[in-house]
This record gives sequence, C-alpha cells and structure tokens, in this order.
Amino acid sequence: MRVTVTVNGTERTADDVWPGESLLYLLRERLGLPGAKNACEQGECGSCTVYLDGEVVCSCLVAAGQVAGREVTTVEGLTGAGGAGLHPVQQAFVDAGAVQCGFCTPGLVVAAHDLLARVPEPADPEIREALAGNLCRCTGYEKILDAVRLAARRQAGR
Ligand code: FES
Ligand code: FES
Repeated sequence: MRVTVTVNGTERTADDVWPGESLLYLLRERLGLPGAKNACEQGECGSCTVYLDGEVVCSCLVAAGQVAGREVTTVEGLTGAGGAGLHPVQQAFVDAGAVQCGFCTPGLVVAAHDLLARVPEPADPEIREALAGNLCRCTGYEKILDAVRLAARRQAGR
C-alpha cells in the first residue's frame, strides 16, 4: 500500500508498504530517518519513541498502515530556535553527560521533551515516572535525571 504521512512537518510518501510493518521500520528503512532506534521491537525499551499526533508512542508497536494521514515527529524534528541546531532538551543531555553509547538517547529525548511540555518544572518522581518506559544500559540514569533537571531550569530561565 501507499502511505502518506506528515513527518517532522513535511508530507512524505512511501510505496509498497506492508500494512503490518511497524512505523519504526517505515521511518528508518523507507523514509531515511534513523533517529528512532530499534532495540526490542516489543514496546519494552523506549528507544523507538516518537510523537504520533502529539502523543508519545513506541513506534515499533504502531503499524505503518495506521499512520496514513497523521502527523509524526521524531527526534530529528526536535530542533533549536529557528529550526536549526540542537533542541534545548538535546543540548541538556549533551551538557549533563547523559549520552554514553547514545542508543537510548533519541527515545529519552522525546520522552523528556513530552514531559517538559506537560510539566515545565517536574519533581524527581515525575521525571522518573515519565522516563520509566525508557531503558538505558550505560548511564545508571543519574545523568539522565540531571539532563532533564537542567533542561527544566533552562526552560524556566534559571
Ligand atoms: S524498540 Fe520499540 S520499545 Fe524497544
Ligand atoms: S547511553 Fe547507552 S543505552 Fe543509554
């Protein structure tokens, strides 16, 4: 089937899509967007997290056939002011040392971006809950918490 979907603000079309293949596969293999990562393909690790119509989803669990006519935002679509450079949440991950191998980072950035849009100054339990579906094998999570706290402080102008 042909799937037309808006990705990061641009209408994109892919042909010969098997309706049951995942949104993650569509993004990575057909649309050339490798930001969302493929680790478990079972909705367990969060490395494939993207926005679908403004809600965070595990893109490995969404069928490509379901996204026709909808809006997807991936980590590549989160940019700095004026559409250039790193988004402040991405910059905070870099500055806090929250990126080691980086495999979990795109999913965590999207999840943290969603949290800070909903809760601009989250308490630590709120951060932990929001990121509970995103696994990281490298950092021990403390630097990731630091990154979200830093992004929140910067967002608040402190
Ligand atoms: S690859 Fe989607 S949750 Fe792990
Ligand atoms: S930085 Fe390696 S899995 Fe998180």
